[in-house]
Amino acid sequence: MSNSISRQKFLQQTAMAGAAVLLSSLESFALTKADKKLKVAVIGCGSVSNRYLPQLQSSKLIEVVSLCDIKYDRALAQNKQYNVNAKTYPNIHAMLQGVPFDMMVTLTDMQVHGELNKIALLAGKHVWSEKPMANTYAEGKALLDLAKSKKLRLWGAPAVVNSPQFAFMSKAIQEGKLGRVASAHGQYGHTGPTWSAFFYEKGGGSMPDLGVYNMATLTGLLGPARSVMAMLSIVKPERTVDDKGKIKVEAEDNAHILLEHDKNIISHVMCGFNFFDTHGHEAGAQTLHSIQVFGDAGNMRLIGYDWETNGVVLDTAETQPPKLMSTDKGGYEWQEGARVTGESIVKGIEPRINVEHALHVLEIMEAARRSSATGMKVKLKSKFPWPMV
Ligand SMILES: NC(=O)c1ccc[n+]([C@@H]2O[C@H](COP(=O)([O-])OP(=O)(O)OC[C@H]3O[C@@H](n4cnc5c(N)ncnc54)[C@H](O)[C@@H]3O)[C@@H](O)[C@H]2O)c1
Repeated sequence: MSNSISRQKFLQQTAMAGAAVLLSSLESFALTKADKKLKVAVIGCGSVSNRYLPQLQSSKLIEVVSLCDIKYDRALAQNKQYNVNAKTYPNIHAMLQGVPFDMMVTLTDMQVHGELNKIALLAGKHVWSEKPMANTYAEGKALLDLAKSKKLRLWGAPAVVNSPQFAFMSKAIQEGKLGRVASAHGQYGHTGPTWSAFFYEKGGGSMPDLGVYNMATLTGLLGPARSVMAMLSIVKPERTVDDKGKIKVEAEDNAHILLEHDKNIISHVMCGFNFFDTHGHEAGAQTLHSIQVFGDAGNMRLIGYDWETNGVVLDTAETQPPKLMSTDKGGYEWQEGARVTGESIVKGIEPRINVEHALHVLEIMEAARRSSATGMKVKLKSKFPWPMV
């Protein structure tokens, strides 16, 4: 017990020290940019840009000035489709020599996020990156060190901690409504993307594409994981995808990950590209309990997905029968991370999304691969400011 108290104190102090450094860089930006919009460059104009572009355009504090894709026709097409009126570029180097911008939003294949984010930081740009922000924890940590040394901001998806349902669940746990929390479970799967091969190539997989959401939610709710054990497998060794035809699947498409948190809490994430699911991104009607938390005085079940939240069932002695609560999304959308963090720079405020949390999840995924390959439990070293709400 005394260990966990001192660890929590340590985390709080680390968080405060980190927040002080971050706030000073945010404040200086906010002062110099008070009358300006944040100029944003989007790199990667594929599927997810259809969600990001309208979201960024909805902000009065953000202007999308550049669009870039190595498949250049995609940058042109998205510029037209969403009336962005941005300059378009066929690669990052051309974009960095083009119109000035403040923040890069990275929406490319997962495997090149780290190298592109590094180039942007070296060029003095803030970065929001789709997940994962790098291929390895070491690469991600080096990016954060680089960002800090240049007084720049770096953030990584997902944005699940922004939902009112996450806040509701976190508060319920912190207020002791569930009693002593023991176990939790998260699951997310579908039958896999059909448009691009990178999801199935080395560095891809269902963990960085799907399990990452549950890992962010469960660590966000229960605190940093101390160690990981996992079993990963490839259920479908061949796939046919739009950009490369028939391919060999190299990254796991089926994963079970056990996380050990402080106070002997254990959580479990199950994800994969072979789960029947009729909802896809239109998950407003999804009734699955994708996140479940169990304590000795109560349980909680998140309805829908942690990225598309439809309410929380609270099941305690006081709520008998179990009560559906927190059904209002409050405007939360899973694709809001770049907008929210971009706006936080302009406003000079610290958002709830935290880069050390994204780095911790990256370390979990790397540890899960190692655990599955060796059969061993893998200890983690990263932490993040917690509790988040
Ligand atoms: N598609 C979704 O609904 C969705 C949802 C949430 C998160 N994501 C994440 O978003 C990222 C992109 O996924 P997607 O589905 O949009 O993939 P996609 O294949 O549709 O688009 C990726 C785009 O990046 C471009 N690209 C690749 N390397 C590049 C480089 N070096 N420079 C410039 N452009 C480059 C590709 O040409 C392609 O147009 C992934 O990290 C994915 O996990 C996707």
